[in-house]
Amino acid sequence: MDFSNNRVCKLFNIQYPIIQGGMVWASGWKLASAVSNAGGLGLVGAGSMKPDVLREHIQKMKTAAEKPFGVNIPLAGKYSPAQVDVCLEEGVKIVFTAAGSAKLHTPRLKDAGVTVVHVVPSAALAKKVEAAGCDAVVAEGTEAGGHNGREGLTSLILWPSVADAVKIPFIAAGGIGDGRAMRAAFVLGAQGVQLGTRFAVTQESGAHPNYKSACVAATGGAARIYNLTHMPIRSLMNDYVKEFCQKEAAGLPTEELQAFRGKGRSQKGVFEGDVRQGELVAGQTCEAIKDIPTVQELMDRLLKEFDAAV
Ligand SMILES: Cc1cc2nc3c(=O)[nH]c(=O)nc-3n(C[C@H](O)[C@H](O)[C@H](O)COP(=O)(O)O)c2cc1C
Repeated sequence: MDFSNNRVCKLFNIQYPIIQGGMVWASGWKLASAVSNAGGLGLVGAGSMKPDVLREHIQKMKTAAEKPFGVNIPLAGKYSPAQVDVCLEEGVKIVFTAAGSAKLHTPRLKDAGVTVVHVVPSAALAKKVEAAGCDAVVAEGTEAGGHNGREGLTSLILWPSVADAVKIPFIAAGGIGDGRAMRAAFVLGAQGVQLGTRFAVTQESGAHPNYKSACVAATGGAARIYNLTHMPIRSLMNDYVKEFCQKEAAGLPTEELQAFRGKGRSQKGVFEGDVRQGELVAGQTCEAIKDIPTVQELMDRLLKEFDAAV
């Protein structure tokens, strides 16, 4: 396939319009550099990194990645301003922001010549991203693993509405687990795709082997959204999520529910592999995930399937 005129490839100077979404506890320099070296765009997920750890990952990326890479910064995190500082100090050229207002850091990043992309769950917010001066927008449907918009729009509804709403390139995310789904995103107006869960279940991902096996064993239906009243998250149903939902149904106040969730749940689940009591952040693409390939094997397969699904 020829992506030489693809707007996303041109924007990032990459070979294939496939982006590995930033993921807490899963996308350090090892995964991100493998994706970039395979011709996609690898993103270091800053969300689980203190600023000094992020700096270390960026410096390792500079050595390991022969091609362009970026950093994903969830804006709700308390370190996000310092993470932006680190990116600027280290000369990072591409930054994806999420979970907050695109207006927050875009002017500062753009002034420094950084390409800025923001993640949204609706066409209305995609317009705001365009107005904020971002270079592209990621539209993420509710199928996605991780924090979810309250709108609950499925990718099939969301993607064409965003394609109609903005002129900047739009990257589709949420529920893409193979090249057929990637083709569907392009048919609905996307110029690129961002995959999270599928890349979390690769050899190079920083996620724990137990997390990867749990995703392979799970069907899409096991990846549920919970914590709806506070901050919706899609993760695999397990003892912890069941107990959380029981407490919620029993009317436990929000503060107590959040205290029960605690601070380190996703670290416990994704990084430490506690499949019962950790938060196994993952999307409905678990339905399509049957193995744990290398990044290169996955990229080859995605492109082959994309080609075949005309
Ligand atoms: C384990 C995990 C952690 C994630 N962490 C983040 C994050 O830190 N920042 C962010 O913007 N999105 C995060 N996401 C969302 C991904 O970047 C991506 O947009 C999403 O997974 C795409 O949907 P998919 O899982 O259906 O491929 C995470 C997803 C997963 C599975």
